[in-house]
Amino acid sequence: MKIRLLTQNDCSLILKIAPDNETTASILFTIAKTIKDGFDGISYIYGAFIDDLMVGFVYGLILPNKTLLPQYLYVDINYRGQKIGKKLLKKLEKESGAICSMAYFEKGLRKYYSDQGYMIGDLLVALKYLPENAEGNFYHEKL
Ligand SMILES: CC(C)(COP(=O)(O)OP(=O)(O)OC[C@H]1O[C@@H](n2cnc3c(N)ncnc32)[C@H](O)[C@@H]1OP(=O)(O)O)[C@@H](O)C(=O)NCCC(=O)NCCS
Repeated sequence: MKIRLLTQNDCSLILKIAPDNETTASILFTIAKTIKDGFDGISYIYGAFIDDLMVGFVYGLILPNKTLLPQYLYVDINYRGQKIGKKLLKKLEKESGAICSMAYFEKGLRKYYSDQGYMIGDLLVALKYLPENAEGNFYHEKL
């Protein structure tokens, strides 16, 4: 198995991975769009390949303060249980140059992340949509 960084040309590979359900399908679509838009300076996506087939990927943000935020880890259902997920996360951690990693994950994966050295607290992630900011120009202003 090979793991390599995905680039703009690899956008369609994410869409070829079979999603578990509708939610996963929209996550995969959003990540494919992130790749298609080109490198934004913080988003890194590594793909795992068996022969020429991409069987999983990990998507993370690397902040300027050297914090890694792994955002999504996904392995094709037919290839799970072969440590591909663990290898992908490890690759992202290693290549990031970050000094700490803060992962978001689903409740069922507490043991999964704990086994990979993450301290699991009681923190819950809260999500709020901010549609009124959609046209905002925060990113265009120099602070
Ligand atoms: C989570 C996921 C990436 C793991 O990938 P994987 O390549 O199958 O995992 P690995 O082979 O590296 O690790 C296997 C270990 O993780 C455990 N594990 C894998 N998926 C798990 C899950 N959904 N819930 C709980 N434990 C899980 C296995 O029991 C196994 O444990 P062991 O090492 O003690 O035997 C994969 O199941 C997946 O894509 N799930 C759907 C998407 C998802 O939930 N992503 C995480 C959101 S960030």
